[in-house]
Amino acid sequence: MLLMRLTAKKSLMTCPCCPSNINNLDNFFDAANARKEAQHYLKKGLDKRARKLIAYLLTHCRDPISVLDIGCGAGGAHLELLRQGVASHALGVDASSGYLAAAQANAAQLNLSDRVTYHHHDFAQTAASFAPADAVLMDRVICCYPHLAQLLGAAAEHAERYLCLSFPRDEWWSRPPYRVVDFFQTLFRSKYRFYLHPRSQVVAVAQAGGLRLIHTDRTFFWQIMVFARPQPFKDRANQHPPSVETPG
Ligand SMILES: C[S@@+](CC[C@H](N)C(=O)[O-])C[C@H]1O[C@@H](n2cnc3c(N)ncnc32)[C@H](O)[C@@H]1O
Repeated sequence: MLLMRLTAKKSLMTCPCCPSNINNLDNFFDAANARKEAQHYLKKGLDKRARKLIAYLLTHCRDPISVLDIGCGAGGAHLELLRQGVASHALGVDASSGYLAAAQANAAQLNLSDRVTYHHHDFAQTAASFAPADAVLMDRVICCYPHLAQLLGAAAEHAERYLCLSFPRDEWWSRPPYRVVDFFQTLFRSKYRFYLHPRSQVVAVAQAGGLRLIHTDRTFFWQIMVFARPQPFKDRANQHPPSVETPG
């Protein structure tokens, strides 16, 4: 399966509104896999990692919140928050058109289309076009992107109250498998790479964005972190970042 994805045909269209297509995201995260993940969510619900990612929001948010899901994939995390009434509305951004189409189809299937919008962009490159949200989600996203400070820094700046992250655990035993995967990617001339960003760097970038680590959890493979803004933008008169229109 992995090898099939690594050798995915280069003839797939690249995203016209995603000029960089950094790390070949639009091709690697293709429509066929997106449909499978979307179906899996409809049939079985969220997997363990994603359940842990949103658990803090489910238990601590009393009023409905706005959600910005960066690298939203097939949309399970924000659709679940909408479905459970924790989110009032959501915005999903992804560099993969196939995954966005699958998320859109699932939103329609769950009668949530009127509360969610999707944008096909590389968030690191277009962050200034998006308004902040109460909660920013990034589930398995930073490991797909080479420029941690650019992507995570922009995400942190858009988190009014919470930033919920999952990323691969950086342990001595998790590094060798990455090297093996890298080897096969090079062998099959895939332009896609995984990035094992050190935990300390992840925390430092989020903290530089004014956030504080308030909750951690993990699965065997994934680290979960929830950061909070000690003083949400809304409470700070005259200090709200410029709220600009989302791109069409
Ligand atoms: C492994 S998938 C995870 C999808 C979803 N969050 C989940 O956990 O099911 C990573 C997703 O992040 C997206 N992604 C990575 N970097 C991105 C960026 N800079 N801007 C927008 N999307 C990005 C990829 O296109 C891909 O759909």
